[in-house]
Amino acid sequence: MLRKLAPSILDADFTCLEKELRVLENGGADLIHLDIMDGHFVPNISFGAKIIESIKSKTSLPLDVHLMVENPANHIKLFVEAGGDIITIHYETCKHLDRVIQSIVGMGVKCGIALNPATPLNVVEYIINKIDILLLMTVNPGFGGQEFIPEMINKITKAKEIINSQNKLIALEVDGGINFNNLSQVITAGADIIVAGQIIFKSTNPEETINKIKNILIK
Ligand code: DX5
Ligand code: ZN
Repeated sequence: MLRKLAPSILDADFTCLEKELRVLENGGADLIHLDIMDGHFVPNISFGAKIIESIKSKTSLPLDVHLMVENPANHIKLFVEAGGDIITIHYETCKHLDRVIQSIVGMGVKCGIALNPATPLNVVEYIINKIDILLLMTVNPGFGGQEFIPEMINKITKAKEIINSQNKLIALEVDGGINFNNLSQVITAGADIIVAGQIIFKSTNPEETINKIKNILIK
């Protein structure tokens, strides 16, 4: 599977989002990662479907919607209609995970399941064949710019083994605290999609930084 870069716009300049999107596109981003936070499941509140709709009208890159919200089933339709191409929900927010997966898949978009750092991998055993993406949080969800949790390297390796034993292409996405010190380790452990926020938006030349990450991803 070709590795992909999904910049998170959480730390972008929201007064000039269109300009920020051009930077991501010119740098070679493969997806746009959109972190939706509700102030309940996670302590932070970010943005909603209206922003996604605006972004959709300004880019042709696929939109990777990461829902960090309670009761995601209530919001899926809204985010699909707004333009989400991938809808990822958290295992920890779902009483009826299989049902929610069916409803995402039924809407014709890709389905991702995210796991918090402390959540074991075995919770996906009976649904893994129904999803397109397994997203491993490598920080506790809620904020950009946190430190990568080193124990997650082992979890990525194990998740890759589980994925490789399936008869289906499932992408392994890694989200949180990625930087130039841990990137190669994360790739070697088996990540297919890399989410990156502050490493891009806090750098002096975001376009160049994306380019630099992409060059590491294709090696
Ligand atoms: C955290 C979000 C991440 C985060 C990535 O809850 O899901 O997508 O914003 O940002 P960095 O790369 O800064 O950790
Ligand atoms: Zn995210």
